[in-house]
Amino acid sequence: MTDSITIRRPDDWHLHLRDGAMLQAVLPETARHFGRAIIMPNLVPPVVTGAHAAAYRERIMAALPEGMTFEPLMTLYLTEDTDPEDLAAAHASGLVKAVKLYPAGATTNSHSGVRNFDNVRPVLEKMAEIGLPLCVHGEVTDAEIDIFDREAVFIDRVLDPIRQATPGLRVVMEHITTRDGVQYVAADETDLGATITAHHLIINRNHILVGGIKPHYYCLPVAKREEHRLELLKAATSGDARYFLGTDSAPHTDDNKEMACGCAGCFTATNTMSLVAEMFDRESALDKLEGFVSLNGPGFYGLPVNESSITLTKGDPVEYPSKIESGDGPVTVFDPGFPLHWRVV
Ligand code: NCD
Ligand code: ZN
Repeated sequence: MTDSITIRRPDDWHLHLRDGAMLQAVLPETARHFGRAIIMPNLVPPVVTGAHAAAYRERIMAALPEGMTFEPLMTLYLTEDTDPEDLAAAHASGLVKAVKLYPAGATTNSHSGVRNFDNVRPVLEKMAEIGLPLCVHGEVTDAEIDIFDREAVFIDRVLDPIRQATPGLRVVMEHITTRDGVQYVAADETDLGATITAHHLIINRNHILVGGIKPHYYCLPVAKREEHRLELLKAATSGDARYFLGTDSAPHTDDNKEMACGCAGCFTATNTMSLVAEMFDRESALDKLEGFVSLNGPGFYGLPVNESSITLTKGDPVEYPSKIESGDGPVTVFDPGFPLHWRVV
């Protein structure tokens, strides 16, 4: 039985760090284990220009505790007013590693997102030309589409047409939650990758709704049926380099989660590595863990893998806080509902 495993330091290819007091509180939770992270730009107001991204990067570095190393990989929030030249300059300088597409209204702080995809065509063409990846929140927002079908419908109605019209555009389907997402990625040889969260490997929609409503399991895209969770687990543990970890760790204070209209987002930064290792162990796939968390992401983004490594050991149940304090109030740490045995030492 394997009870110790050493892997290259992992990265998180989809992370919400927020700003101010919340940034201060959540950044060490990620930097403790992860070398780098793709930083989501859905602040209020959003990170739209190269100048915004440079300023946000400085605030992140200023919030990093002494003695910790961490590299934020900045993104720009795509709007219908995004200037292709500003974006190209921010990429050429090395500052910006991806551009984020939120369909307007799809999720937390997405009102500035794209309504008419024709209006971002010149930006997408520029991105294909310079090799800057597009990270996609893949859900349609049409009121008549059932929330559990929004990812599958997005692939057919939005994503596939965008990709057909923009050859060479590199796309990351973020936080896939369905068999449809897994299969769409599997069908493409070169320009497509997908992130998978820790929580979508663990929960299905029953966890949110059975036995009382569980606001801390509510996130977007919402967890789907068990059969979809099993497909995600199979993809993550397959060794296929097109799938990699993007936690979508999305802190909201308990006040904002536990209310009549609670915010979407699961906060997993604190225990991600224990969560993922537990699930890979259950699948007898610990030999695929390093690929998923440390190798496949850099491979897709054309970045070197981290030089340093981390060691996980298996033992008594891991103790981690049920909440962290944020200055704005407590933030509940994702509870898988079962003990975790793998700890980063
Ligand atoms: C994210 C957030 O809170 O910023 N919420 C979530 O449920 N994942 C936004 C997002 O990535 O959809
Ligand atoms: Zn997110």
